[in-house]
Amino acid sequence: MERPTDTERYTMTTYAVEGPDATEQAKQPPYPGIRKLVAGDIMAWMKLWMPQRAAAGKIGVFDVIRLLWNYCGLRAVLLYRLSHALWKGHVPVLPGIFAQLNVIIHGFDVPSCVEIGPGLYVPHPVGTVIMASRIGANVSLISSITIGMRNVPEFPTIGSNVFVGAGARILGNIVIGDDVNIGANAVVLMDIPSGATAVGVPARILARKPAPEQAGQ
Ligand SMILES: CC(C)(COP(=O)(O)OP(=O)(O)OC[C@H]1O[C@@H](n2cnc3c(N)ncnc32)[C@H](O)[C@@H]1OP(=O)(O)O)[C@@H](O)C(=O)NCCC(=O)NCCS
Repeated sequence: MERPTDTERYTMTTYAVEGPDATEQAKQPPYPGIRKLVAGDIMAWMKLWMPQRAAAGKIGVFDVIRLLWNYCGLRAVLLYRLSHALWKGHVPVLPGIFAQLNVIIHGFDVPSCVEIGPGLYVPHPVGTVIMASRIGANVSLISSITIGMRNVPEFPTIGSNVFVGAGARILGNIVIGDDVNIGANAVVLMDIPSGATAVGVPARILARKPAPEQAGQ
C-alpha cells in the first residue's frame, strides 16, 4: 500500500464520513513536528490539571516535571512520541525498542508508525492498544481501549476532538468523525458521523438531545 504524504495524514478534520473536500483539505495544516506534538500533549494535561496556567499559555519546566511525575499517561504518550519521531527519522531498531518499552513499562501498545495528532490524552494507559490508520488532534482515550482490526488487517480512522470511554473497542476499516463521544465499553463496528455519541454493544448512535430552547417548546 502506498504511504500517504504527511499532509494527507494530517487532514484530521477531513475525516468526515462523507469524504474530504479538496479545497478544505488544502487548508489543513501539515502534520506537525515533534515539538508541536509534544507541546499539544502537555497542554492537554495542563488544561485539565492546571487550567489557570494553561489559560495563560504558560508552560514552565517545573509544570512539566510535576505532570511527568504525577501522570504515567503523559509519560506513556511522550515515550510513544519519541518512538514515532525516530520512526519518521528512519532510525533503525530504536523505534521498536521504545515501543516495546512502552508496553513493558506502561502497558501502552502503540506501534511507532501510528500517526496521532497533538493533544493526545491517555490518563490510564494500561491495557490500551492503538492500531489505527490515523488519529486526529485532541483525542482522549480513557482506559483499556482497543483500536484495531476486526477480522482482516484494516484499521480505523479517527478524527479530531474525539472522546473514547473506558473499555471501548473500535474495530475494522471504519471512520470515526470529529467531535464524537464513544461510551464506556462500547464496541464500535460502523462509521460514526461527526458530532455523534455512540454507546453499547454493538454501538448505536444516540439520538441528539434537543437544544434547551427547543426542549422548552
Ligand atoms: C457516552 C457518554 C460520554 C455519554 O454521555 P451523555 O451524552 O451525557 O449521555 P447520557 O449519560 O445522558 O446517556 C444517554 C443514554 O445513553 C445511555 N448510555 C450512556 N453511556 C452509556 C454506555 N457507556 N453504555 C451504554 N449506554 C450508555 C444512558 O443510559 C442513556 O440511555 P437512556 O436515554 O435510554 O436513558 C458517557 O455515558 C460515557 O460512557 N462516558 C465514559 C466515562 C468513562 O469512561 N469513565 C471512566 C473514568 S476512569
